[in-house]
Amino acid sequence: MTTKDTVTLTDNATGKQIELPVLRGEDGPAAIDVRDLYRELGYFTYDPGFLATASCQSALTYIDGNEGILRYRGYPIEQLAQHSSYIEVCYLLLYGELPVSAELETFTRHITRHTMLHEAMRRFMSAFRHDAHPMATMVGVVGALSAFYSDSTDVHNARQREISAHRLIAKMPTIAAWSYKHSIGEPFVYPDNELGFTENFLRMMFAVPTEAFEPDPRFVRALDLILILHADHEQNASTSTVRLTGSSEANPFAAISAGIASLWGPAHGGANEAVIRMLDEIVAEGRPVQHYVDRAKDKNDRFRLMGFGHRVYKNYDPRARIIRKVCHELLISLEPGNPNQALFDVAMELERIALQDEYFQERNLYPNVDFYSGIILSAMGIPLNMFTVIFAMARTVGWVAHWMEMMSDPKARIGRPRQLYVGYGARDYVPLKARRERPA
Ligand SMILES: CC(C)(COP(=O)(O)OP(=O)(O)OC[C@H]1O[C@@H](n2cnc3c(N)ncnc32)[C@H](O)[C@@H]1OP(=O)(O)O)[C@@H](O)C(=O)NCCC(=O)NCCS
Repeated sequence: MTTKDTVTLTDNATGKQIELPVLRGEDGPAAIDVRDLYRELGYFTYDPGFLATASCQSALTYIDGNEGILRYRGYPIEQLAQHSSYIEVCYLLLYGELPVSAELETFTRHITRHTMLHEAMRRFMSAFRHDAHPMATMVGVVGALSAFYSDSTDVHNARQREISAHRLIAKMPTIAAWSYKHSIGEPFVYPDNELGFTENFLRMMFAVPTEAFEPDPRFVRALDLILILHADHEQNASTSTVRLTGSSEANPFAAISAGIASLWGPAHGGANEAVIRMLDEIVAEGRPVQHYVDRAKDKNDRFRLMGFGHRVYKNYDPRARIIRKVCHELLISLEPGNPNQALFDVAMELERIALQDEYFQERNLYPNVDFYSGIILSAMGIPLNMFTVIFAMARTVGWVAHWMEMMSDPKARIGRPRQLYVGYGARDYVPLKARRERPA
């Protein structure tokens, strides 16, 4: 018997049939190509939340949630975390291959050369309210980049697309650090192009003009790892937002600022912040950690352990496995008397109890990447309101790479989902005087 790579769909109301092609990728579930469905049978497909819909083809990142697999351009995240650097991962995501030495050197030089912001942007940033949330500043400033760098906004010009990509990756740490400096009233620290990407960010965030600053190498490595682990995660909400925004041929700065806005939501980028808020609350209340584990298991209590479980990784989160080790090493190396010690103790106790608990074991609920990244960022002295900003900085390369992939595809079309209309049927306009009052 010969097998065909098609699926036949029968309309049971009319008996009409359509044979739909099956598209097979390199890995993962195949997809039914439904593009002819509306023309042939007059139906749309209905899938709110895109639970079973592939919105595009992509060669960037592969995830298998059941097996706990994450790969960038085919390379397992474990290998990249162990051997690579964030700047090299940026090259890999953008260009598809690991760079040879000369390519990495040139790319690093290009990124380094673009770290400064136009001086008018510095004044623009100073105009935000003194207590502006750094994410609010970031969304606005990235959107405004197109007002300062309009010479690279022709989306049909491949070279201009590349320059914009480099500008976005390079300027994001400066924007992130300055958003923070503005929120605490300290002077902006200019980038130092002698430093690596991650060191430079830490210096712009923590240095003051009056004192010498030496970044702690443990923090540089831990942050570089967090950036690698968050660099891309295929078609999540913010990446899909960037693709949809960019599909109308909006300029890349506008598209990335739309992605940042999407990431800002607590259901997306705010998870590690929620972990620290929960740990703070546990420390403040002073009850045993077991009390919160019991509450999380109680079906009549809405309380959940933040940083446990994942929508995609149902077995384990490969990023969590990598970062857990670094988190433990970092906490052990911290000097005694650390102001966050009580919080770290609660975190480790929570991890220990939950990992041994039947409820969590049966449901495969393990601490996820946000649990550990929240703790690491706290240990580095990074304030809560910067957590999502750092996530945005890391994810910028993923957003940009997806945007580049879409824009260089000659078959790319504007994204335009359909809907199932459930509102009123047609009805006649009623003049104002003839309208009946609505009961209060
Ligand atoms: C991430 C999350 C939304 C995934 O949710 P999901 O895929 O819809 O999983 P479900 O809500 O169906 O959970 C499956 C089971 O585990 C339980 N569960 C899931 N996460 C839990 C948690 N953090 N604490 C306690 N119980 C949890 C659910 O109550 C459910 O139990 P049941 O089968 O007895 O009803 C969820 O695990 C969660 O809310 N985690 C905490 C928030 C968080 O860390 N988010 C960041 C993720 S990046």
